[in-house]
Amino acid sequence: MKFSYQNKTRIQFGQGQVASIKELIPSDQKVMFIYGFGSIKKNGVFDQVVAALSDHDYVEFAGVEANPTVETLDKAVAQVKEQGVDFILAVGGGSVIDGAKYVAAASLYEGDGWDILEAKHIVSQAMPIGAILTLPATGSESNVNSVVTKAATQQKLAFGSPFVQPEFAVMDPDVMKTLPQRQLANGIVDAWVHVCEQYLTYPAGALVQDGYAEALLKSLKTLGDNFSDQDDAWRANLMWSANQALNGQLGLGVAQDWATHMIGHELTALYGVDHARSLAMVQGSLLRNQMDVKRAKLEQMGRNVFGLSDHSELAEQTIEQIEAFYQSLDVETQLSDHGGDKSLAIEKIMTQLENHGRISLGENNAIDLEQSRAILSQAVA
Ligand code: NZQ
Ligand code: ZN
Repeated sequence: MKFSYQNKTRIQFGQGQVASIKELIPSDQKVMFIYGFGSIKKNGVFDQVVAALSDHDYVEFAGVEANPTVETLDKAVAQVKEQGVDFILAVGGGSVIDGAKYVAAASLYEGDGWDILEAKHIVSQAMPIGAILTLPATGSESNVNSVVTKAATQQKLAFGSPFVQPEFAVMDPDVMKTLPQRQLANGIVDAWVHVCEQYLTYPAGALVQDGYAEALLKSLKTLGDNFSDQDDAWRANLMWSANQALNGQLGLGVAQDWATHMIGHELTALYGVDHARSLAMVQGSLLRNQMDVKRAKLEQMGRNVFGLSDHSELAEQTIEQIEAFYQSLDVETQLSDHGGDKSLAIEKIMTQLENHGRISLGENNAIDLEQSRAILSQAVA
């Protein structure tokens, strides 16, 4: 085990914490306040931010869409360059925060910002970012990742850089009160799959990572099982679980998979499926396809997370339990809304995977195009 780890993001957790950004952003910095499509105007977060920024010079940039597009974000980049912005404040879910990361990096790059997503430019500097989280799911508020879509070509690509990790993340569970139930279910599923991507590989004897992964999965399972009893503690637990699921720590020194995400991103790009839901459609099929290499960890998860007893079909039963969990949250485990022609849908997804070089996925690089096709034959209804 060899790793280097730093998590610089200061977490401001709890009710009323939005006000603290007043002290966290230096008062001489010009701020760009980036948000989505108005949910923050309905739940009071917008007013809280405006009040907290009363001593700051700031500009607003609204309209970052779910699954943010480079077409929209490049307008923010142009404004940052024109108006001498020093600090990016993202107020929203993963899409707004990911979008802010792109803006922070692309604003200090002279070329076409899309180069960053295509790895033609490796980020070496970015503007400082602060995040006010309104939807717990992605962990983007305290990690290095960003996922951006090019609408023109239906490409959804990711980049990661320590330079875009937020300086601070405000996490007030009260902001979740206006979230549609669908988005709360998405949050549970996305965080769950984030843990799985870093845990369901092969045994590495990493006692801390395994134990923490199981604690997070059990916490998420409890939250899902009590979905209809949401109170302050429920919201706080979901916000914290989703953050911890992808803040860089679980994956230290262990193999990571991420194939479910890579294939899922294509479903979102082509069919507009919510990110979390795309994962639920792919994961079960992928785990079955990779059973030979994942059996030991699936058995461990079955025992330690679902409380199953040992028997020869324990790994298979664990996958059934995972899918039953998603279904209990009204999250589908197959892609059915694709226009009615299964083979055509599979061909379209395969073409995207190939075009994006997703030809050796997973912790063993064993998911080649042939395996992806086999996975999709079960994942697409
Ligand atoms: O635009 P507004 O009006 O704000 O509405 C949003 C949006 O329509 C709404 N919403 C957010 N907070 C709300 C609220 N509605 C009511 N009350 C609130 N408090 O929710 C909708 C979805 O928001 P979005 O930000 O898209 O959701 P999520 O947080 O699930 O982010 C998904 C994006 O993150 C990427 C995904 O690919 C996708 O693009 N991911 C980012 C990761 C990362 N940075 O580490 C990892 C993930 O695996 C994921 O790929
Ligand atoms: Zn995810």
